[in-house]
Amino acid sequence: FAAFGTVVAAWPGFILAEAAKMNNAPNNAFKPDVEIELTARPDTVSLKPGAATNVLKYHAKLLKGPTTTLTYMPSYLGPTLNFVRGQKVRIIAYNDLPEQTVAHWHGLHVPQKMDGHPMYAINPGERYIYEFEIKNPAGTNWYHAHTHEKTATQVYQGLAGLITISDEQEQKLALPSDEYDLPIVIQDRRFTADNQLQYLQHGRRERILGFLGDTILINGQINRTIPVKTRAYRLRLLNGSNSRIYKLGWEDGTPLTAIGTDGALLEKPETFPYIMLAPAERVELWVDFSGREVGSDLILQSLEYHGVMPHMGGGMRGGMGMMRGGLAQGSKFPLVKFHIAEKTSESPQLPAQLVKFQRLTDRDVANPDKPIQIGLSMIHMSPKLNHRSFEMLAVAEWEKVPVNTIQKIRIYQEEHGMHGGGRRGMGRMEDDADGMEGRGGRRGGRGGMMEMAHPIHLHEQQFQILSRSIKDSHGSGYATVKDGFINNGWKDTVLVMPGEEVMIIKPFQDYTGLYLYHCHNLEHEDMGMMRNFLVS
Ligand code: C2O
Ligand code: CU
Repeated sequence: FAAFGTVVAAWPGFILAEAAKMNNAPNNAFKPDVEIELTARPDTVSLKPGAATNVLKYHAKLLKGPTTTLTYMPSYLGPTLNFVRGQKVRIIAYNDLPEQTVAHWHGLHVPQKMDGHPMYAINPGERYIYEFEIKNPAGTNWYHAHTHEKTATQVYQGLAGLITISDEQEQKLALPSDEYDLPIVIQDRRFTADNQLQYLQHGRRERILGFLGDTILINGQINRTIPVKTRAYRLRLLNGSNSRIYKLGWEDGTPLTAIGTDGALLEKPETFPYIMLAPAERVELWVDFSGREVGSDLILQSLEYHGVMPHMGGGMRGGMGMMRGGLAQGSKFPLVKFHIAEKTSESPQLPAQLVKFQRLTDRDVANPDKPIQIGLSMIHMSPKLNHRSFEMLAVAEWEKVPVNTIQKIRIYQEEHGMHGGGRRGMGRMEDDADGMEGRGGRRGGRGGMMEMAHPIHLHEQQFQILSRSIKDSHGSGYATVKDGFINNGWKDTVLVMPGEEVMIIKPFQDYTGLYLYHCHNLEHEDMGMMRNFLVS
């Protein structure tokens, strides 16, 4: 922890200046297979009956290449972009907003300049040209605004959309496709009486827990019913909410069959009684409606769970979003209804094997005994990574990673004064150069510190989860969520529960530069729970 004090300049100034140059002219050496124009601009759509809602929106024009999905063309999110592995993609992003924005291709393995780091903010009236090859395997990814301190509000207003990637391995599986391959983007929102999107109302205390809405949008629509046939479907679920964590379950108790995680298909299908889906996480489900009666419904709901924030001081309780009217975090409510509308006899069978998967172990990593440590904490109502907040270009010693290595990373909740571990926690914290922690620790008893669940996202390549462990003292709430984690397969976001520690293995291959890691509770991200890795 001595390293916490050492923040070094990432690169010599001139290299940084070079790296930070906007990419606003097409590179003629890059021959795109697909060219897309996306314009971020304010718009109005009818999300609720009556008046229209003002939103920010991506408008897209596909200049060349395969067509985007039209069936579920959303009214509020950006269009779904469908890519094929190996394709070279050029996306010309125009900013017609009255403020800066930048687009991040969440889950994709792309060069630094194309990754939507907030240092590449696009000014109003300007454009940025993203050019990259699709290197990811078949799976479900997404794109969203990643603007400095404005990610939460821009995504909230609609600057997000789905990306699907297909490849040969996947095509051989003949999974349900076209109208049987359904995107399900889940978001919670809140509306004013005149149908305008309403964001946080109660200041910092509400912000620290994250925004919680009282209305569920599915693909940008309220009260979504999807008509289906008596056959198998592939559902691509994305939690596109700012901070709400869902515990997915079928209303009638049918187990969920997962075929894919954040970044890719699984090696083989796995069933779960329920699945935890934190902000930015994706899960692909196989659901078979054959045998169900025409006219009946099956509802996908969010189930009750506990333990997201068990260690709060009394002072935190008043005025919090989770306690106010609407949907409390961890409560039970319906998400989307599937209406069995039509009988059909043909249906694909669930493959027993999906894609090849090579499990990474200690043998593959450069640092088996010395994992990179990422401690999660909440100090002075401010969520931190190793006691630090976001710095646009600086990296600390522990954030320097040699390119083309595979690293073991330990992401863990730090213990605080609220319970037994407090002393030890404070002892460690004294190493911190700015001394913030000592003060935070003393405030613990008054409720200024707490542990809460954080969905931690690391940019660039997908990682694997090596292990999860929980301290005994956090057991009871944890029991209501622990069977809902998908720990096999490729991930780019992992939910770290209070008291929990997660060990991951992550490759840093091909590209050098600054790559973000952060909490994907977007309120936390904008409060500075974000930092850079320097891959070099
Ligand atoms: Cu989905 Cu750094 O973000
Ligand atoms: Cu967080």
